[in-house]
Amino acid sequence: LADGPLKGKHIIVTSGPTHEPIDPVRYIANRSSGAQGTAIAAALAALGANVTFVTGPADVPPPMGVNTVKVQTAKEMLAAVTSAGAADAAVFAAAVADWHVANAGNSKIKKDGAGLPRLDFAENPDILATVSQMTEGRPRLVVGFAAETDDVIANATAKRLRKQCDWIVANDVSPDTGIMGGSENAVTLINDAGAENFPRMTKADVAAMLAGRIAEALA
Ligand code: C5P
Repeated sequence: LADGPLKGKHIIVTSGPTHEPIDPVRYIANRSSGAQGTAIAAALAALGANVTFVTGPADVPPPMGVNTVKVQTAKEMLAAVTSAGAADAAVFAAAVADWHVANAGNSKIKKDGAGLPRLDFAENPDILATVSQMTEGRPRLVVGFAAETDDVIANATAKRLRKQCDWIVANDVSPDTGIMGGSENAVTLINDAGAENFPRMTKADVAAMLAGRIAEALA
């Protein structure tokens, strides 16, 4: 482990999309690359943190120097987070699927079956809200992300209060920004003190900035 201001601190980071099975060979997913979450885990580790990195099937490889736990579904991600042990902070950068397929098949759905398949959806657990609202063993600092396309600050501020996390990192993921899947991000950090805008920078620089803020908060 690196030496640094986060030495001795355990931080959980979620990252990437989740895959929700339709049957053993098909799934529902989203376009998250895992780039920002991976960069955050790397930046925290570089400051000396002991990082548990819980990642869905991402496009980018997990960083070196972290304890990686690979999961597929939202339910598996929640289980990995709750069994990661006591943490000083948790950063929820994963793009968790909102729903899973309630009637997922145990064997491959056949095209020559009786007509078109019908998928029934059920809600997934909200990992950020679950951890934020823990009455025992809640990490001291819980950080969520809010990817929005409209009214970014208002929606993210409401989300922070609803989920009861300490910080929300809001970003505008409108298609014309090129942020989703790209190498840059433009974020606003929302906490008790208000909203702080950061200029557009690389995801690595966003990660370093956040890791620095987290180190200050846990000091
Ligand atoms: O509600 P929304 O999905 O926009 O909230 C985004 C934040 O909540 C992110 O930090 C994301 O990782 C987290 N989240 C979660 N579990 C879910 C849905 C979102 O941890 N099921």
